Amino acid sequence: MCGIVGYIGGREAYPILIKGLKRLEYRGYDSAGLALIDHSESLNVYKAKGKVSDLENAVEKNDTTGNIGIAHTRWATHGEPCQANAHPHYSASETLALIHNGIIENYASLKENLQERGYEFKSNTDTEVLVQLIEYFKNTETKDLLTAVQLALREVIGAYAIAVLDKNQPNLIIAARKSSPLVVGIGEDDFFLASDATPIVEYTDKVVYLNDEEIAVLKKGEKLKVVNLYNEEITAKEQIVKLNIGQLEKGGFPHFMLKEIYDQPECIRDCMRGRINMEGTNVILSAIIDHKERLLNARRFIIVACGTSWHAALIGKHLIESFCRIPVSVEYASEFRYSDPVVSSEDVVFAISQSGETADTLAAIELAKSKGAFIYGICNAVGSSIPRATHTGSYIHVGPEIGVASTKAFTGQVTVLAILALSLAKEKQLISQNDLEIILKELLIIPDKMAALLQKNAEIANLSAIFTYATNFIYLGRGYCYPVALEGALKLKEISYIHAEGYPAAEMKHGPIALIDAEMPVVVIATQNGMYEKMLSNIQEIKARKGKVIAFVTEGDNVISQIADYCIELPETIECLDPLITSIPLQLLAYHIAACKGKNVDQPRNLAKSVTVE
Ligand code: AGP
Ligand code: GLU
Repeated sequence: MCGIVGYIGGREAYPILIKGLKRLEYRGYDSAGLALIDHSESLNVYKAKGKVSDLENAVEKNDTTGNIGIAHTRWATHGEPCQANAHPHYSASETLALIHNGIIENYASLKENLQERGYEFKSNTDTEVLVQLIEYFKNTETKDLLTAVQLALREVIGAYAIAVLDKNQPNLIIAARKSSPLVVGIGEDDFFLASDATPIVEYTDKVVYLNDEEIAVLKKGEKLKVVNLYNEEITAKEQIVKLNIGQLEKGGFPHFMLKEIYDQPECIRDCMRGRINMEGTNVILSAIIDHKERLLNARRFIIVACGTSWHAALIGKHLIESFCRIPVSVEYASEFRYSDPVVSSEDVVFAISQSGETADTLAAIELAKSKGAFIYGICNAVGSSIPRATHTGSYIHVGPEIGVASTKAFTGQVTVLAILALSLAKEKQLISQNDLEIILKELLIIPDKMAALLQKNAEIANLSAIFTYATNFIYLGRGYCYPVALEGALKLKEISYIHAEGYPAAEMKHGPIALIDAEMPVVVIATQNGMYEKMLSNIQEIKARKGKVIAFVTEGDNVISQIADYCIELPETIECLDPLITSIPLQLLAYHIAACKGKNVDQPRNLAKSVTVE
């Protein structure tokens, strides 16, 4: 859940570590810390509760010179966020320092054993157990850091990405991974280490993604060596990453989230590039071409995902069932993995994830794989763990998403799901060329419609300012826009901390309508599609109880504008693509309410971008 950065080479490590941590801060951020071996070969650890800038302030007056260091932003799993629990953790003799992302599940029994041998602990973390265990092996079995790390990791149950420094081996970083991501960047004569490639790309494009139970030995002046827990050498597969630094900066916007909302027209163009031809007459998804038989003969599809990706999955179900007539079930990955699901080799399991690192989604994939299912990933982060764990997949290609609240990844996921449904329907000959072209041509102009819609930003900002008082919100939609209502409510909750619930509009009368009074803002997605008349009745029901209706309608609608308290007009599109339009004003509404309330929009409290723990 946290961010890990490391550097070893000829440059000053400190600025590289701090910049890297800032790039990774979105992953987790309740505290931060770093360890440096300075030129006199002493090992110094600095830590601070709070953000990377708090760490910088804390370190300010100290000597930060040195060419080797490791750094961490923490998202606490064991022990409250405080300085003592922040990483790096020293070993008892303070000769080792370790950073860790993940959870050591058997930490309690390991800790007890070490305590019986006289080891004392300064933090409540599971992580400190690991550094002490490595030191224990260094004291009892070996002087060599690599061997001690291997021995310790063989004892560990759980998930880890770690990096370790040893004051007695000042030219060495040992790094290892299991179930938590870790990337090594290979420079001219130096190495970089990070949880993802974003802190590395400005120094080198040459990277190695570590696999589970692999250990990287980063030694000054030597080539990268990768071994397993039993010291067998592994041939590291070097890859070239193509990440644009500009994509990682805010580009003049006050927050990444707003920039990413505005990025959507371009992102959706990127997502469709090479998949829909310019004329809008043909759609191709390479994964479908490559695995046609497996996909077309599937008994059913199961989609596993979490959070926003799960909302996109609900839209995917609608698209695939209506166009391909294949039954689709949508599961929370966290529930699926523990539910003893009925899955067989006749099923295809789709895993949707922006980060490609979500622990529950990864575990759901492994479970489905063990039951013989074919696994198809829909991810954004290139080279992340999920694409590597699946049989095939399609990237959404929307570029790095930094704001914790997912925006452009959602519309990217919906776009890929629409392309997927249409490609399958074409292969199954369930859609006529004429109907296919109507939808493809519409998809091609969706980015322009998104851009037109973004012109309403000021209008939505003004509307948002009215509602900063609210403590509750209800979001309603039907059909394709029911998941949009769920997603709109999630956005508001995440960044403004206002309680919000999304419902299928017709469910209102089965309970939630009891909540409606003159104080209750109700966001209604009521575009002019199949469910319009029904939505109109639902709006009347809310108004009859004096609720404040904020309606998002199709341009030119002069019926709802008469009834609703506030009305925003959106460009018209076809029903199955409605989510690509209607989700954007809800992102803006959540953004502006949170920004008006002065909340930390990009890094909301308690959340992390990449949920690599259960
Ligand atoms: C989205 O705004 C959330 N921060 C969160 O629900 C997220 O969608 C979820 O954790 C799944 O992440 P993934 O897509 O990276 O797997
Ligand atoms: N389990 C460790 C802790 O609580 C690491 C958490 C993380 O991944 O940031 O300190």
